[in-house]
Amino acid sequence: MRFFIDTADVEEIRDAHAMGMVDGVTTNPTLIARSGRPFEEVITEICGIVDGPVSAEAVSLDAAGMIAEGRELSGLHPNIVVKIPMTTDGLKAVGVLSSEGIATNVTLVFTSMQALMAAKAGATYVSPFVGRMDDLSADGMEVVEQIVSIYNNYGFQTEVIVASIRNPLHVLESALIGADIATIPFTVIRNLASHPLTDKGIEAFLADWDKRRK
Ligand code: E4P
Repeated sequence: MRFFIDTADVEEIRDAHAMGMVDGVTTNPTLIARSGRPFEEVITEICGIVDGPVSAEAVSLDAAGMIAEGRELSGLHPNIVVKIPMTTDGLKAVGVLSSEGIATNVTLVFTSMQALMAAKAGATYVSPFVGRMDDLSADGMEVVEQIVSIYNNYGFQTEVIVASIRNPLHVLESALIGADIATIPFTVIRNLASHPLTDKGIEAFLADWDKRRK
């Protein structure tokens, strides 16, 4: 299972990368805006840190605009994946970009049928937003389970990136379902690594070690 980090903060990316937990990066317009840095500058810096897929999102609403943006973004670095919103125009753009060998990540996916359409259009990745589904009292992980089954039934090569992850349980369930990738915020990566009994154990060992030396 691959872990992507869901951020445009290069310090977070460097930190998680040093732990060996970053197989790729996803960004979106909100995360880029939060970084306070120019889009191309931050995306290029991220590509210099991580040797893996880096998703950068197109912001046009029409297919022609998305295609033009996609071509431009993919020219920035060979690891760029063009993130395309799940709309009818988005599907058209994915078809053209994929025929040109440009990797795409269909984003803002909330149903398994949207994911099926993205795969049929030729998407490299599909991103179901589990946290946003859970926020509306839907079961995000159930949708991921359906997508994985459907892709397996028909042998689609499109990979599932579980996105909008809010907590360690989302990552656990993604792993149990067999999703290809989870894109995880930095705070959740840290939470996955920590346990109060680990901290308590270290404290006790160090206290005992100090006693021994006295
Ligand atoms: C990643 O591809 C998505 O843009 C991201 O996971 C969305 O997360 P959010 O629902 O916490 O904004």
